[in-house]
Amino acid sequence: MRLFTLFPQRFHTMIDTLNNQFGIPNAVTIAEGNGGLPKAVLTHSSGSSCEVYLHGAHITSWKNATGDELFFLSRESWWQSDKPIRGGIPVVFPQFGGRGPLPQHGFARTSEWELVCSGLLDNGIVNIDLQMRESAETLALWPHRFTLGLRVLLDENALTVGARVTNTGEQPFDFMMALHTYFRVADITKTAVVGLQGTTYVDTLQENARIVESRPEIRFAAETDSVYPNAPDSLRVAEEGNGRTIGISKTDMPDVVVWNPWIAKSQRMPDFGDDEYVHMVCVETGVIETKPVLLPGEKWEGETTFRIE
Ligand code: BG6
Repeated sequence: MRLFTLFPQRFHTMIDTLNNQFGIPNAVTIAEGNGGLPKAVLTHSSGSSCEVYLHGAHITSWKNATGDELFFLSRESWWQSDKPIRGGIPVVFPQFGGRGPLPQHGFARTSEWELVCSGLLDNGIVNIDLQMRESAETLALWPHRFTLGLRVLLDENALTVGARVTNTGEQPFDFMMALHTYFRVADITKTAVVGLQGTTYVDTLQENARIVESRPEIRFAAETDSVYPNAPDSLRVAEEGNGRTIGISKTDMPDVVVWNPWIAKSQRMPDFGDDEYVHMVCVETGVIETKPVLLPGEKWEGETTFRIE
């Protein structure tokens, strides 16, 4: 019984403290989110907004100036400090998927992050920075000292997410990192990912066969799970259902993943509705195939901008 009364109180005190430190009138507010987890709500003067949970530095919502939601968020998502959120932008680090000994997609998405700064720039862009570093839990899984920073910048028609990894230890390490972005679509069968033609991809569903992408537009009629190493830096998600196109431009995030679980895999995922595959597509950006190596003191930075076109 006591836990139920102590935890909300802890979060309320934390939310008040965070608002005193990082709140900006009409631009940044810290509030209690689902499951009582704290979130930062960013609002641009145009009316666009986004929400970022401290749990995982997870962006769960991005709305345009008229309030339309651009990111998918599962109605079955967990909202627990030891589980990832299903939808929005899970931060994948230091391992992508099952490509190593760590838990699937690493530990950043299930770690508690700190809010380290907030700002309202002269050009109206609203921003926050979050950071996580090694802990007893991460060191038990991955014996490296590091900081991982995430910068979120909200403009009228664009959201930019920058990541920075710093080796704060005494040994080199390598890592993978990705923004596992879930776009909300009205109908997956009326959705195309454009801009990957000519890139050789790894088809996870065909024993990692390497295939040259011949399609000018990738459309969906079955489970799709493909990694495109060294993909072009500019691509787009064209969504005929909502008559909307979102441009994706990336810097130093060479790889792209295109994923939709389709019917059978949706049914196997406990935190995802059986019919929800119709309303999402993941187009992920990051560094997966060729892992950056950081010597002590070195930094890696990468960035992706999503723009409503
Ligand atoms: C994608 C992988 O990036 O993430 C898929 O390519 C995986 O294979 C998907 O199913 C979701 O992973 P998770 O751990 O969030 O269920």
